[in-house]
Amino acid sequence: MTETESDAFDGSSTSSDDPTPVGVKLGSTRTVIQIERNGEIETIRTLTCLATYEDPITGSERVLYGEQAAQEYPDSVEFMLRSGLPEDDARAELAKKFFNELITAQNIPEDSVVVYAIPTIDNEAGLKNLSDVIEGSPIGEATIRSFPESLCGSIPAMGDELEAIDEVFVSINMGSTNLEACAYRHGEQLAPFSTGAVTGTEVDRRIANAVEEETQGRVNIDRTTAREYKEEHASFVDFEPFTDIIQQPGGGSHEFTVNRGLMDPVDEYVDEAVDEIANNFLSELANTHMKPYQLALGKPIALTGGMACIPGITDVFEERLSEELSRDISVVSAERPDLAAAEGAHRIAERLADNL
Ligand SMILES: Nc1ncnc2c1ncn2[C@@H]1O[C@H](COP(=O)(O)OP(=O)(O)OP(=O)(O)O)[C@@H](O)[C@H]1O
Ligand SMILES: [Mg+2]
Repeated sequence: MTETESDAFDGSSTSSDDPTPVGVKLGSTRTVIQIERNGEIETIRTLTCLATYEDPITGSERVLYGEQAAQEYPDSVEFMLRSGLPEDDARAELAKKFFNELITAQNIPEDSVVVYAIPTIDNEAGLKNLSDVIEGSPIGEATIRSFPESLCGSIPAMGDELEAIDEVFVSINMGSTNLEACAYRHGEQLAPFSTGAVTGTEVDRRIANAVEEETQGRVNIDRTTAREYKEEHASFVDFEPFTDIIQQPGGGSHEFTVNRGLMDPVDEYVDEAVDEIANNFLSELANTHMKPYQLALGKPIALTGGMACIPGITDVFEERLSEELSRDISVVSAERPDLAAAEGAHRIAERLADNL
């Protein structure tokens, strides 16, 4: 709120004194922040998790976050969000610690315009907890605003600027703990939909099971490994079976091949997502907003969220949804759908900063 005092020594550069635009997306699996530094856009991407330990010298609590926490404290690390929200007070506390740790480590300036993405979900307490985490943090002194994650994620899918804000279109957000869909009419949400039934995390669980089956029960992988297989190898374009090695208890190792164990669950995921979108979300949208429905389906649908990173998924989704609806649908996504929400939030923050 308070402006920095005018600096009598420096009349030359006003722009460096302007608040920095920052885009933030807190997700159940990953948190992404975009910020411009020295004229370059920087993307910070980290696992949304936290581990604590006692400082051996002072006895005070020390906090680790992200990949380091997950690697060093695999047994006690906490992923505190579900559907992108801290669901209770304890998790809200953890989320605060996580976020403060992250913005301190990354030097996010307090004098900033912060836009953060929020999930489209009917959970008032959780949404309030999320807003407390961000709005209670030291950043965003100039302004803090929230926008729906599926809208933010559509922004880089729809153009180089803020075209998505002026359109009537449908967005689908494929996250780790939920699938969201919404039609937007100049930023207004129509028929917001979300389900926890079709998720990236469920795909990971199925991959772990399928790998166990594929190896006749010899290989049990955890869900983190399953997620890593999916993120590295899943592809509708050029999937290749791959091998991995596990250490046997008592020495020795076992090499195994993953083939259908990976792509079958991913393939099912797309079928289930198409089914939810066509038969639950779009049918509701058609019932409640017939004209915008017709308009929106005449335009590309934006696909966003981490699961939309799987190579070829846009085309496969387009094909299967067209078939399900018996009409030609087109689907677009950003170059990096996993970063898109933070990227879109950053663009909105830039616009807000320009209008301060
Ligand atoms: N390159 C990739 N290939 C395949 N899957 C990916 C890739 N990157 C991320 N994912 C998957 O996308 C999901 C995470 O997506 P996203 O970051 O949009 O979710 P989130 O916002 O953290 O979760 P939620 O929306 O449930 O809070 C995870 O299941 C993750 O494994
Ligand atoms: Mg999300």
